[in-house]
Amino acid sequence: MSSPPVSPSQSHLKYVSLGVLVLQTTSLVLTMRYSRTLQGEGPRYLASSAVVSAELLKILICLLLVFYDNNFSIRVLNRVLKEEILNKPMETLKLAIPSGIYTLQNNLLYVALSNLDAASYQVTYQLKILTTALFSVSMLGKRLGLYQWLSLLILMTGIALVQWPTESLGGISPTPLSAGSQLVGVIAVLIACFSSGFAGVYFEKILKETKQSVWVRNLQLGLFGLVFGLMGVFVYDGERVRESGVFQGYNSLTWTVVALQALGGLVIAAVIKYADNILKGFATSLSIILSTLISYFWLEDFNPTSVFFLGAVLVIAATFLYGYEGKMPAASHSRV
Ligand code: C5P
Repeated sequence: MSSPPVSPSQSHLKYVSLGVLVLQTTSLVLTMRYSRTLQGEGPRYLASSAVVSAELLKILICLLLVFYDNNFSIRVLNRVLKEEILNKPMETLKLAIPSGIYTLQNNLLYVALSNLDAASYQVTYQLKILTTALFSVSMLGKRLGLYQWLSLLILMTGIALVQWPTESLGGISPTPLSAGSQLVGVIAVLIACFSSGFAGVYFEKILKETKQSVWVRNLQLGLFGLVFGLMGVFVYDGERVRESGVFQGYNSLTWTVVALQALGGLVIAAVIKYADNILKGFATSLSIILSTLISYFWLEDFNPTSVFFLGAVLVIAATFLYGYEGKMPAASHSRV
């Protein structure tokens, strides 16, 4: 795989997409945290239905972006959709793989969260930084220098420390979990780490090895996501949907989370296209620190400890170390 030339506008898009990802992840974390503290009355919204809503919104925005890319011509939009999606069933089917894996992953994370406390889950899930690097090397032929591997290890340690359990000011005492249940939780997170790395890198491979627009690709991914998501609604919540409808328990906060999640899918696609999955790991790690700090100053539901600060310093140092190696002329940086 030879390295495609990177134009100044692509390099600009790389930093813009990474910056937007930091903002999007930060707002998503804060909104979810806020929605947890703000427990309203009535039934809770169904997670499976929120997944489908986000997928629908994503498809709609992708359609608008393809429409925009084609000078707002309905005729061209129709042609592109027909030629790129309907007339190329094998190309479209390729996206069923990452889509199916992401669906499995989203469900595994539910299993993990039901069997493991949130902190252990968050800390263990950071292993995905390493699995992503391993898949990038084996599937994309990316080469990382010694400092870059080192920076990934530092990043993983740092973000694990940042998420290390602290005395919660809210005084929520965790419910005790059995050892067997914890093992199930840990296994679910470990499988999710591999699926996250594989699906992300597989999507990156498709985006970078073919000429199709990132929004058409995301549309294909979203269509499968919608099908898998609807299956999830019927399997998990069929009974409840029949009783109280698909949108039960939705409030403005639910719609905000749905919109942020849809935006997340779009931004992640742009980051994978213009930057890569490894840089995505750095952006999300930095945003976890940012959201924790905002949470401390604004929501006042977090008490930062020295472990948190040590972790934050490691994450920031790892980010510089990774970039430093990238600028060295002799270093074999990623080919993006
Ligand atoms: O934890 P991880 O970074 O693997 O999560 C990626 C998330 O982004 C998944 O929930 C997946 O559904 C979503 N995604 C998306 N569109 C893409 C790529 C990922 O919605 N093009």
